[in-house]
Amino acid sequence: MLANMDITGASAIVTGGASGIGAAAARRLANRGAKVVIADLKAEDGEALAAEIGGAFVNVDVTNTEQIEAAIAKALELGPLKAVVNSAGVGWAQRTIGKDGEYSSAHDLELYKKVIGINLIGTFDVVRLTATAMSRNEAGPSNERGAIVNLASVAAFDGQIGQAAYSSSKGGVVGMTLPVARDLSAVGIRLNTIAPGLIDTPIYGTGEASEAFKAKLGESVLFPKRLGVPDELASMVEELITNSYMNAEVVRVDGGIRMPPK
Ligand SMILES: NC(=O)c1ccc[n+]([C@@H]2O[C@H](COP(=O)([O-])OP(=O)(O)OC[C@H]3O[C@@H](n4cnc5c(N)ncnc54)[C@H](O)[C@@H]3O)[C@@H](O)[C@H]2O)c1
Repeated sequence: MLANMDITGASAIVTGGASGIGAAAARRLANRGAKVVIADLKAEDGEALAAEIGGAFVNVDVTNTEQIEAAIAKALELGPLKAVVNSAGVGWAQRTIGKDGEYSSAHDLELYKKVIGINLIGTFDVVRLTATAMSRNEAGPSNERGAIVNLASVAAFDGQIGQAAYSSSKGGVVGMTLPVARDLSAVGIRLNTIAPGLIDTPIYGTGEASEAFKAKLGESVLFPKRLGVPDELASMVEELITNSYMNAEVVRVDGGIRMPPK
């Protein structure tokens, strides 16, 4: 019988692991026995979580290749790198054109590039480097060397008004799933993507106004009529990392929501 991929004693890297879905995923992977490297910009939260789960924090901006390499070096000190979760991401909302017919009020091109730089290029940089490190692992029982999970968004499919940059970036993450999984199949590395719906994390800000906003958002979910919680996403991350037969797939975890235009 072929067992699920065992990550006990292995290392893992979670980008964006200091908050939200990434933090919940880091806890799940640590619970399965992995030494987790939290690769994030937020040192205080990242250090605290690393201490809680017996992992390590490395200050990483995913747009910086050297910092990604430093996170991999840290992971390799802790054990063979077998699991990677790309949860670092940012949102941005602006319409493609302004209301006054002026070129100057069209979508800020630098912001478009910034979102693509973090969400798409940053994700791919982490994938290509971590997969290279994983390719040196000794193969496991089913010839497996590791698994990667990327976080896209339902906005890759149902992008709303103002989401051109965000949806483009997440559409790119969805688009890389099959070709990258094909590339990595030669060395026994699986790659899957999760497209979350509306999940209750600090991405929506904090305080009274954002609580009211989130309650309103929850009404648009098919069932259950609420936002998802980070651990419901982390549960899927854990499954995609450990289930040896999950590969090259994009999974929506969204309570059945289909986003309207706005
Ligand atoms: N929360 C949702 O409703 C939702 C929905 C769809 C997709 N997602 C995606 O899931 C992922 C996690 O989102 P979340 O809700 O947990 O967000 P979050 O804001 O709680 O956490 C994101 C983390 O990424 C880090 N980060 C941002 N830019 C970074 C960079 N350049 N380098 C390294 N780290 C960086 C932040 O510091 C933060 O800790 C993101 O990719 C997001 O786009 C979230």
